[in-house]
Amino acid sequence: MQIQSSFSLKNFNTFGIDQTAEAFVSVETETALKEVLSLKEYPCKFILGGGSNLLLTRSIEGLTIHVNTKGIRVITETEETVTIEAMAGENWHEFVQWSIEQGYGGMENLSLIPGNVGTASIQNIGAYGVELKDIFVSCSAIAMHDLHEKDFNLKEATFGYRSSIFKTSVKGKYVITRLRVCLTKSNHKLNTAYGAIKEALEDLEETPKNIAAAVVSIRQSKLPDPKEIGNSGSFFKNPVVSLSHYKELQKQHSTIPSYPINKEQVKIPAGWLIDSLGFKGYRKGDAGVHKKQALVLVNYGSATGKEILALAQTIQHRVKEDFDISLEAEVNII
Ligand code: EPU
Repeated sequence: MQIQSSFSLKNFNTFGIDQTAEAFVSVETETALKEVLSLKEYPCKFILGGGSNLLLTRSIEGLTIHVNTKGIRVITETEETVTIEAMAGENWHEFVQWSIEQGYGGMENLSLIPGNVGTASIQNIGAYGVELKDIFVSCSAIAMHDLHEKDFNLKEATFGYRSSIFKTSVKGKYVITRLRVCLTKSNHKLNTAYGAIKEALEDLEETPKNIAAAVVSIRQSKLPDPKEIGNSGSFFKNPVVSLSHYKELQKQHSTIPSYPINKEQVKIPAGWLIDSLGFKGYRKGDAGVHKKQALVLVNYGSATGKEILALAQTIQHRVKEDFDISLEAEVNII
């Protein structure tokens, strides 16, 4: 375990922003994690997972701790289901692929989501009709202030749309160390309601493996690969508005899409709002809006976090002006 000073985080955030950590350490065991968490000389500590939901607009003071613990194991199983535990530092997509190779169902729609297992719970990752909460059993965490260990079950995790207790009441207070999910071995509950999945499957049988491959091909066709173009997936959350507000908007924009939330509210795709303002493919310097998905902001090379943030604010301003909707960032802005 080696603490490095003035460490560039460029390769540790999927936006590829070149900011530095005052001090940086990567830990491969929970014992090492506890050791560094207890270091008194760094009162300020920042936990870094896959860096896939992060926009760095400044350098990070204190100690940045990169959680790099690995391991996947079966903890219980029945004829039909299996409970798996994965360590926080496992790459999310590799975890999904592992489960697919074992023939397990439940995570196929969550293929190719960037990031790590530990941070998946924080924002209740979701795609194509499935969210982490649908397979979540519990996660273990270590408290930053006194290192006590705590498990959070499904109820305690209080998941919402791209949200959890780790983004709200205990924000910044715990480091998630392990995740447990319940998957199916047979009688899979497959979710192919999302139109694009059916199209991509064509005549193939609906199996976890085929659905995972369909999701990978859909994502690859629409979303930029962070290894090629820096990005953090959806930059904004899809906003929820009142039905009356939506009906007002419909008068001027007859094609505006929506998904029902309840009798009084609908969710509107932020990508549509941004696209309709003409931002898709927009570029200023190296900061831009992806050509194929207006909800994704991109770094073409050497954009700074502040430049990406300025672009996000311009978009928020225009969306507010034209639609009277406040877009909320999904990405964690530091
Ligand atoms: N749309 C446009 N123009 C665009 C983008 C989208 O008109 O540039 C319209 C589409 O035509 C469609 C609607 O907006 O009618 C929804 O688009 P899409 O199906 O691509 O999904 P999304 O709402 O933009 C959400 C998630 C994604 C997830 C997809 C698929 C959020 C913030 N984003 O995007 O999650 O992959 O659904 O389930 O909820 C992520 O969180 O990083 C992420 C990629």
